[in-house]
Amino acid sequence: MNPLNHVAIIMDGNGRWGLKYKKQRNAGHKEGLNTIEKIIKVSIKQKIKHLTLYAFSTENWKRPKSEIKYLFSLLENFLLTKIEDLNKQNIKLKIIGLKNFSPKLNKLLRQSEQKTKNNTKLQINLALNYGSKFELINAFKKLKKSKKKINEKNLNDYLQTKDIPDPEILIRTGNTKRLSNFLLWQVAYSEIFFEKKLWPDFTRKDYNKIIKMVTFNE
Ligand code: FPP
Repeated sequence: MNPLNHVAIIMDGNGRWGLKYKKQRNAGHKEGLNTIEKIIKVSIKQKIKHLTLYAFSTENWKRPKSEIKYLFSLLENFLLTKIEDLNKQNIKLKIIGLKNFSPKLNKLLRQSEQKTKNNTKLQINLALNYGSKFELINAFKKLKKSKKKINEKNLNDYLQTKDIPDPEILIRTGNTKRLSNFLLWQVAYSEIFFEKKLWPDFTRKDYNKIIKMVTFNE
């Protein structure tokens, strides 16, 4: 049995990859989607229960409108074409973050979650419009209102990651050593790997190597 419950990933470097190889940032996002598919396959093979992907942060709204539009069209297309397949593979999709996109995308996200909600092989937590500080402030507000005791367990119950075990591994690609407001509470005890490679260049082998390093030390 693989002792890993949860791997979280900050998929950084798409824009730089796109500029470097195709002279446009968006090409990197498209290529990044291929890496996501590879990483999902390895996660299943490795019997990892949760894979959390930072796909769009609250900060990402500052990007050019055309890039934001492109990212959401990629996401929409991904869900429309792949959700059946994910469902068949017994994969559950959960969105963490605020679903306040276009009514069409919100509906598609809800439908995708609904369709896959009873699946048990792998849970993909897609962090979309997610920011950890906002999540924590909200959780504290709700906990205060509930009048329950302020402790770790009760706070966990109000986080968007409620029912998701904390990640044993956090990976950030793209040669930047920052957490960028991602799962700040949840990574308290995670092993953190900062990878030099840009996300589209991150391979199955790179991912397996990290998993092996962590599980070997267990
Ligand atoms: C970070 O690279 C990546 C993102 C902000 C988006 C991640 C999206 C995908 C991998 C593909 C789309 C998939 C979904 C599910 C929407 P960056 O653009 O910050 O790279 P840079 O640091 O080189 O600028």
